[in-house]
Amino acid sequence: MQQIKLGRDGPMVSAFGLGCMGMSGGYGPADDKECIATIHAALEAGITMIDTADFYGMGHNEMLIREALKGGKRQRAFVAVKFGSMRGPDQKHYGDDARPAATKNFLAYSLRRLGTDYVDLYQPSRVDPQVPIEDTIGAIADMVKAGYVRHIGVSEASAKTLRRAQATHPIAALQIEYSLFSRGIEREILPTLRELGMALVAYGVLSGGLISDRAEAARTAASEIRIRKPRFFAENFTKNVALVESLSKIAREKGASTSQLAFAWVKSRGDDVVPLIGARRRDQLEEALGTLELKLTAHELARIEQAVPAAAVAGTRYLPAALAHMDSERAP
Ligand SMILES: NC(=O)c1ccc[n+]([C@@H]2O[C@H](COP(=O)([O-])OP(=O)(O)OC[C@H]3O[C@@H](n4cnc5c(N)ncnc54)[C@H](OP(=O)(O)O)[C@@H]3O)[C@@H](O)[C@H]2O)c1
Repeated sequence: MQQIKLGRDGPMVSAFGLGCMGMSGGYGPADDKECIATIHAALEAGITMIDTADFYGMGHNEMLIREALKGGKRQRAFVAVKFGSMRGPDQKHYGDDARPAATKNFLAYSLRRLGTDYVDLYQPSRVDPQVPIEDTIGAIADMVKAGYVRHIGVSEASAKTLRRAQATHPIAALQIEYSLFSRGIEREILPTLRELGMALVAYGVLSGGLISDRAEAARTAASEIRIRKPRFFAENFTKNVALVESLSKIAREKGASTSQLAFAWVKSRGDDVVPLIGARRRDQLEEALGTLELKLTAHELARIEQAVPAAAVAGTRYLPAALAHMDSERAP
């Protein structure tokens, strides 16, 4: 698999990453054995970036990754960890905590759960509005100096925050939602990333399973994530499925699946973009990896964008209360 540089002087990572969130609930129950087999299959296919967060399954995801990386596989993986999201046992969200002391405390637990001495990429999952980003990044920079963290990232940060973060310590990557349905970053965040030389780690490429040939099955499957995604709600869903259908038509002509087209479009946005594959089963991973064979011409890319005009997508990517809390969604 193609390797790309994460940030100006950053490490080399695989052109696609494996996002492990769905392996610990969120999209319904998952089978640990199949999840571990999926991580192994990803490593075998040349994927190095394994993306997790300490709050995915409240530690379950990190312990699953620990299990998967036993037997000498840790060195082959680039483990990216997000932290800061505060949840109760019932998954109720209590905001974010990225104070310096909390940051170091979260990291200590992650290292133990992952069974590793270092995290490759450590990043606050949301910018904590109560804490200057310089303080959060400064705390992670202390952990870089001490050898516990190799590189620093941010997630869902605004252009302004990216500049402040980069002025504190080199930032390798921004993780943010980016797909045919979520193109808001193209106005300001993406140009800023490129100016600053950071890479983009794109999540939500399938918009939670909506941009796929199985949108209806995704809508009806029990999922605590999708019940908070307005694009799956009633009339929004009907409108969005019509957009997906026009993409599916192009995909069929290419002999590809709709999700492969969605991945190929994100990948086509630049060599500095690492799409995360949100697979929890080997068949999903295999389908996503089929994207590697898929080359889109300029004409096809134009047709795809015509099929899904950004303004035609119905519903926001998160509920208004969640968006209000996101630094990336604040007006510049
Ligand atoms: N930084 C952040 O704030 C943030 C937020 C969310 C996620 N993430 C990261 O991004 C990763 C990707 O998550 P996502 O939810 O955003 O991903 P996504 O690709 O938009 O959606 C994943 C959903 O798509 C479905 N799916 C997976 N492969 C498929 C395929 N080949 N065909 C059709 N449907 C398929 C899955 O189905 P099943 O339900 O059947 O598994 C799952 O429901 C996560 O694992 C996590 O690492 C980061």
